[in-house]
Amino acid sequence: MRISIIGCGYLGTVHAACMAKLGHDVVGIDVDADKIDRLSKGRAPFFEPGLDELLTSLQATGRLSFTTDISIAAGSTAHFICVGTPQKRGENAADLRHVDAAFASLLQYLDAGDVVVGKSTVPVGTAAGLADILAERQPEAHLVWNPEFLREGHAIEDTLHPDRFVYGVPGGDEDHRAVAVMDEVYAASIALDTPRMVTDYATAELVKTAANSFLATKISFINAMAEVCEAAGADVTRLADAIGLDERIGRHFLNAGIGFGGGCLPKDIRAFMARAGELGADQALTFLREVDAINMRRRTRVVELTREFCGGTLLGLRVAVLGAAFKPESDDVRDSPALSVAAQLQLQGADVTVTDPRALTNAARRFPELNLEPDLDACLANAEVVLLLTEWEEYRQLDPHLVGRLVSAKRILDGRNVLDADKWRTAGWAYRGLGRPNA
Ligand code: UGA
Repeated sequence: MRISIIGCGYLGTVHAACMAKLGHDVVGIDVDADKIDRLSKGRAPFFEPGLDELLTSLQATGRLSFTTDISIAAGSTAHFICVGTPQKRGENAADLRHVDAAFASLLQYLDAGDVVVGKSTVPVGTAAGLADILAERQPEAHLVWNPEFLREGHAIEDTLHPDRFVYGVPGGDEDHRAVAVMDEVYAASIALDTPRMVTDYATAELVKTAANSFLATKISFINAMAEVCEAAGADVTRLADAIGLDERIGRHFLNAGIGFGGGCLPKDIRAFMARAGELGADQALTFLREVDAINMRRRTRVVELTREFCGGTLLGLRVAVLGAAFKPESDDVRDSPALSVAAQLQLQGADVTVTDPRALTNAARRFPELNLEPDLDACLANAEVVLLLTEWEEYRQLDPHLVGRLVSAKRILDGRNVLDADKWRTAGWAYRGLGRPNA
């Protein structure tokens, strides 16, 4: 099938590459000429494991091309809208200007029978509004809402082998013409019995925001337990292991630490609250305010804990921060808890050096005032306290004896609770986790 993908960010680029891998003839379209230039050369504009290799291997097939020219979308059967929906400046609501612009510019190139597929995360009600516009401008084209559930760092696997497909179509009609087109797009996964649900537009939109809200709630729940564990002298990691054995609870997404960040969970729960308010259902989501507050409190807690750990003052304290990305296997620093903590420490007078295997270029753009050091040993040299804030594998595997020779004081704060506390303590370190006993 010929497919156009509008928006070549984290979502669109991976989707374009995966659709081409499945055998479709794909064009990726974006307004950013630099991005398109890089992609045309087979290079992703961000780090995602396996993506550069996939783009390079697809170049030889001729099935994947990139352009800034939206008119090339003409002739495609399915048109995926994959543009970003960031948080509005100074407000909780989502900014839909990229979705509206992409949709408006696509309209004139649509033919009868074409399917426009919305993948961007949008407030409930957006699809119905776009469908009304489509009905006026090209009544014989269709709109499907097909939310995306990929995780950065696992994006290719999640796109090729998702847990489920959700198609939102008018009235949730299984026999809608667009359903057959979507089944053809995803034929390879559907053949593997991937569950596929057809719903109405509003349900499809809500599936996405509800899923991210649930994940955010799970993380904030365990972080709230970490606060209680700290007060009671208990260990939140053992608590999570024990409650996670109950299948109804499950151990996934119960890792207490410095909280969630990134381009999705924080802004999605805020946009969801804003939309519920517009719908008169704000009371239903007031708990998400608490989820957000618990999450933001984690960052302050790490700053306070560092101060307390190092004798009561941050002034002039040499701090080595391991990690800048919002999570490992990503160079994404949007709303990164690690950078937010590093910046706070620096503001309060500490001498902070941050390292990360992939995210320093992006970190420099967002926080030009931070001292960024690509070399891990150089970052650790003479540190008076080490903060592990993004759990890259190479930081999990650090040898406390070797690191002990580089630093000037053996203090480590494990912001992700991933280190073996006994091993570090035995090697002579003062170790602090979050929600774990001091000794
Ligand atoms: C999230 C969802 O997991 C995806 O299903 C969804 O498709 C995506 O948002 C999206 O809306 O596009 P992502 O933002 O890539 O994916 O990252 P997650 O793996 O969900 O991690 C989010 C944050 O939570 C990270 O900062 C991570 O460190 C933190 N986290 C995760 C914890 O603090 N504890 C945990 O137990 C798990």
